[in-house]
Amino acid sequence: MVTASAPGKVYLFGEHAVVYGEPAVPCAIDRRARVTVERRADDHLRVHAEDLSLDGFTVEYGGTTGGDPDVDVPQSLVEAATGYVDAAVEQARDAADAPDAGFDITIESEIPLGAGLGSSAAVTAAGIYAAAEELGTDLSTDEVAERAYSAELAVQEGNASRADTFCSATGGAVRVEGDDCRSLDAPELPFVVGFDGGAGDTGALVSGVRELKNSYDFAADTVAAVGDLVRSGEDALAAGDLEELGELMDFNHGLLSALGVSSRSLDAMVWAARDAGALGAKLTGAGGGGCVVALDESEETETALRYLPGCEETFRAELDTEGVHVE
Ligand code: PMV
Repeated sequence: MVTASAPGKVYLFGEHAVVYGEPAVPCAIDRRARVTVERRADDHLRVHAEDLSLDGFTVEYGGTTGGDPDVDVPQSLVEAATGYVDAAVEQARDAADAPDAGFDITIESEIPLGAGLGSSAAVTAAGIYAAAEELGTDLSTDEVAERAYSAELAVQEGNASRADTFCSATGGAVRVEGDDCRSLDAPELPFVVGFDGGAGDTGALVSGVRELKNSYDFAADTVAAVGDLVRSGEDALAAGDLEELGELMDFNHGLLSALGVSSRSLDAMVWAARDAGALGAKLTGAGGGGCVVALDESEETETALRYLPGCEETFRAELDTEGVHVE
């Protein structure tokens, strides 16, 4: 039996634009997904999942061909969770040359599903690493990142950048531009996360941005402007200039709003953070609902979000330099 864990992440800058080859800077945070795998005698998968945003469920099925769960959580969440687990197991089977390996799998995640904190990437990276270890194959961090990206691509039907999976595999602050992924030095970042209890449909949101970008030159310019902003943000990060980072986060949120991926609750949380004196605030991840990230060294933003109607949960997060590892 092997347990591996991998961190979730917030996007400091650059989500959505990264899908079109612009750079992005996600940062791993100290909220992790833990995946425990135990080899079975048959080729079945039995998945038990506990996630912040859903009641636990268990589903068992043969091979990798779907399941028939009898559970009281939304079917879409079950499909989302098991889809990534299937894809992760497939990668581990391939890495270990064990195409028929079956597993009992337990997922415990501190990261709400589909809320912009990289839950699926963390589960995928930890799942691949744990299942490969259980089959006696030790994967390097780069191999986990590569295979987690392939797994996400398969589940998201080609709509995925390397940002989430690379960040989960390596930890820390990273820069992703196309296929070029590397780690960045970063100062301590006083992240505050607000969660509206909802989830966005990443595929639909990515498609919406793609349509806008294809319809209007100014939408394409907006995507390019996000890229320019990220390049300025990297300089601010290297200089440890938190004030400028905050200003650029505010700007990034405005550009994401223009691209149609914010929501009323995300905007309300962003404005509550700004009113509380945060250095900056923006949505993180695909948008449509889910989480915002703010920068604030004081307690003010956390307090303001805690009392904001529509904000279900708020917590401080720290940059986590620990990538995927066996527990
Ligand atoms: O919401 P998340 O954590 O899945 O992030 C999605 C980020 C996008 O840039 C919108 C898509 C991607 O694959 O980079």
